[in-house]
This record gives sequence, structure tokens and C-alpha cells, in this order.
Amino acid sequence: MKKIIKNGTIVTATDTYQADLLIDNGKITAIGHDFPVGGAEVIDAHGAYVFPGGIDPHTHLEMPFGGTVSKDDFETGTIAAAFGGTTTVIDFCLTNKGEPMKNAIQTWHAKSKDKAVIDYSFHLMIGEINDDVLEELPVVMDEEGITSFKVFMAYKNVFQADDGTLFRTLLAAKELGGLVMVHAENGDVIEYLVNEALEQGNTDPIYHALTRPPEVEGEATGRAAQLTGLANSQLYVVHVSCAEAVEKIAQARRKGYDVWGETCPQYLVLDQTHLEKPDFEGAKYVWSPPLREKWHQDVLWNALKNGDLQTLGSDQCSFDFNGQKDLGKGDFSKIPNGGPIIEDRVSILFSEGVKKGRININQFVDIVATRNAKLFGLYPQKGTIAVGADADIVIFDPNAERTISAETHHMAVDYNPFEGMKITGEPVSVLSRGEFVIREKQFVGKAGTGQYLKRARYNSSTASVTDKVSN
Ligand code: URP
Ligand code: ZN
Ligand code: ZN
Ligand code: ZN
Repeated sequence: MKKIIKNGTIVTATDTYQADLLIDNGKITAIGHDFPVGGAEVIDAHGAYVFPGGIDPHTHLEMPFGGTVSKDDFETGTIAAAFGGTTTVIDFCLTNKGEPMKNAIQTWHAKSKDKAVIDYSFHLMIGEINDDVLEELPVVMDEEGITSFKVFMAYKNVFQADDGTLFRTLLAAKELGGLVMVHAENGDVIEYLVNEALEQGNTDPIYHALTRPPEVEGEATGRAAQLTGLANSQLYVVHVSCAEAVEKIAQARRKGYDVWGETCPQYLVLDQTHLEKPDFEGAKYVWSPPLREKWHQDVLWNALKNGDLQTLGSDQCSFDFNGQKDLGKGDFSKIPNGGPIIEDRVSILFSEGVKKGRININQFVDIVATRNAKLFGLYPQKGTIAVGADADIVIFDPNAERTISAETHHMAVDYNPFEGMKITGEPVSVLSRGEFVIREKQFVGKAGTGQYLKRARYNSSTASVTDKVSN
């Protein structure tokens, strides 16, 4: 059925204007005024912003980690995402050394099939490079539309790859048109520091942060950036948490390297003192990289504002406090890493960023949606409000006030790291390809309606079109 979204304020990465949208067959078919209603359903958006659905470029749904599996799957995770104004997620498909990558991708298709309520795609982990992998990569890119590859520089003896693997992945990506993503922490140094802490009897959650200091993130980020320059390739650094890493990304960009950086809501608003909470509660705040001293937040906000960092991912990887996080009682290194963020990613950036004057509304749209579409081969089908684009749309009340709480969130876990935080601005309705998933703050979607998205290859000029907006 045709729809007309009337009287809203359209916001894109470049513009803010009053107009109505005509939606037909899942697409935005016209932008203008006074469309004849015909048989269309009219949705009144007066007083609301109308912006493109968020694209979360970093999720781990139903992912095995540290002897357990992240709790939110493609159903609960994408429902929560939709409540929060996200209409596309790109999840990390883990691979196993010595096995065809196709098997891993099939595992991820099986996890997501009939579950997602919004569209989704996969990044592919590269744990090793050999002739088999090099032969399979172009096939995976063509057949699966997976055009971004993740290399872990940390999690020694689990996911960590060596520098040779990273370098060869960068070279392959250059040749094939892929974007290499890195988890940038020095896993060898972390292993030493963790063992030393445990030998000294330092087992509390705070030692998670103390054994992964900013230097190990800065060093790995710089190393990855240098190797990218050497390979003349392209790099996206996930979950940047600290000034040291921002500086390395900024330096690389100044040299003209094709290097991008993502941060996450938790690093923008939470700090290391949360890991010191008593009764093991600090475990709720265990991410890698860890939360930092508070002053790093200003550096991250500034970097989003001035373009040294370009995107916001949730790094959604949720574990219950009771029954999962407590695997690390008595040994911080066994606390499953990660948290439930997928739902509040967009709203936190709006409330803390736009409402507090740290970024403007167009930058906000760029950071939560448009840039991710451009970087990951989804633009202009996704990530913008334009004729011909998918009608993935958020109708957002900029003045709604709410308090984040596990009591009211839609994620499958028993706590929320932002518990009690008051935020302003909330999605009222969310459409995926022209159909309501959230309507007047109620879930009206259906598991399995989300489609798997094949993505285009990395294109440096699409990625780096700087839609200059004034502050
Ligand atoms: O702590 C985190 N970030 N957990 C998810 C896995 C990863 O490293 O991204
Ligand atoms: Zn009205
Ligand atoms: Zn990571
Ligand atoms: Zn992650």
C-alpha cells in the first residue's frame, strides 16, 4: 500500500527541510508537497524529524564467545534495533581456521534465517591467509556480497591474527575492492599484562581495564594504519575508545591514507570507574577495548565533530549479568566481553550529541546511517532519504524524554549499562522498506521479514564524499 509521510522535517547527512514523502513498493518514490492522497495511507509526522533508518555496522548476534553465546539473536537483537531507530545491521561472521569460509557463512545464514525483522548483512572474519582463502575470497564477494573483512589484532589464541595475515588481507582487499576492519589492540602485550595481574592475585573486573591500557590500543591502531599505507589499501578501525587511537587515525588521514574510525556509545558516555563497582557489578562494563578515563570522551566527541572518526557502531554483544558475566567471578579474564547497546545507539548520539550541541543534526544522520551505507556498499539504496532509496525511515520525536532501563528495554538481557540515564529524543515509528516495524512505539513487525543484503565492493570515492555541513 502506498504511504505518504506528511508534515515532517526531513533530515539527511546534508540537508534539513520540510517535505512530504511518497512511498510505494518499499521505495521512496517522490519527495514534495501536496501529493494527491489517492488510496495512500497518510502518516502525520508534524513536529517530528524524518531521517533514514540507522545502519549499525557492528553487531555480534548469537555469537559464541568465552565459553558462552551472546544472548540477543537475530530476532530479539533486530527488534531492539528497530525500537531504537536502526533498520540495517551488519553482523560479524566468525570463521574457523582450516575450514572453508562458505561453511561459516552458512552457519550465519542459518542463525539469521526467519528471524530478522530488519535488513541485515555480514562482515567476514579473516583468521588466516593461505591459497584456499585467497581463492575463496573473490567468490564470497561475488556470491554473498560480503565486501568487508575483519581482522582481530587481540584475543590471543582465540581470534587473533598475526601481522602477516593483516598485511596480506590488506593487499587482497586492495586488489579485490574490500574494506579491512580491525579490532586494534596488541593481543600479545595484553596476554602478558593479564597473566601478570592474575599471578599477583588481581582478579577483579577493574583489572580488565588496567591490563588493556590505551597504549596497547594506540600502538595496534598505528601499526594497522601504517600497514594500510604500505599496502596502499583501506582500513576501518572498529570500536575506537581512546585519544591514543584517535591520534593514530587522524595522523594516517593527514597522510592521505584511506583509514576510517568507528566509536561506540559506551565510550562516549561511560568511563573506567564503572569497572570498580562493588559486588562484581563492574563486570557489566567489560568491553574490549575497555572503558577509559573520562577525559577521553571529549576527544572522541571532538573527533566525531571534526571528522577524525566517522561512524558509530553498537558492538552489540550482550550477556546476562546473572549466568554469563559471572563466568568471570574470581578471574576478570573470563568475563565475557561486550554489552547490550543496539537499542540505544541512535538515541544516545542524538541526546548527548545533538541536544547537547556537540554535533549537528546532519552530522548525526551521517554518523548513524549515511556514512555506514557509503563505507559498506549499501549507498544509495540505504542510508539516505532520496527518490529511489529503500523506504527505511525513522519518525523521531526530538523532545520525548525517557529513562533507559532494563525494565523497559527490548534486549534479551537482565541489565542495561545505561540504567537510569535520562535521554531526550525517541523514535516514534520506524519503517523498513515501506512497512512499519515500530508504529507509535509498538512493535508491529514480523520475524523473517528482514532481508539479507548483498553489498557492493568498497569504493573510495563513494566512501569519502564529504558532505560538508556547517557546524
Ligand atoms: O567487548 C567486545 N567488544 N565484545 C565483542 C567482541 C569484539 O571484540 O568486538
Ligand atoms: Zn499534524
Ligand atoms: Zn572487537
Ligand atoms: Zn565487536
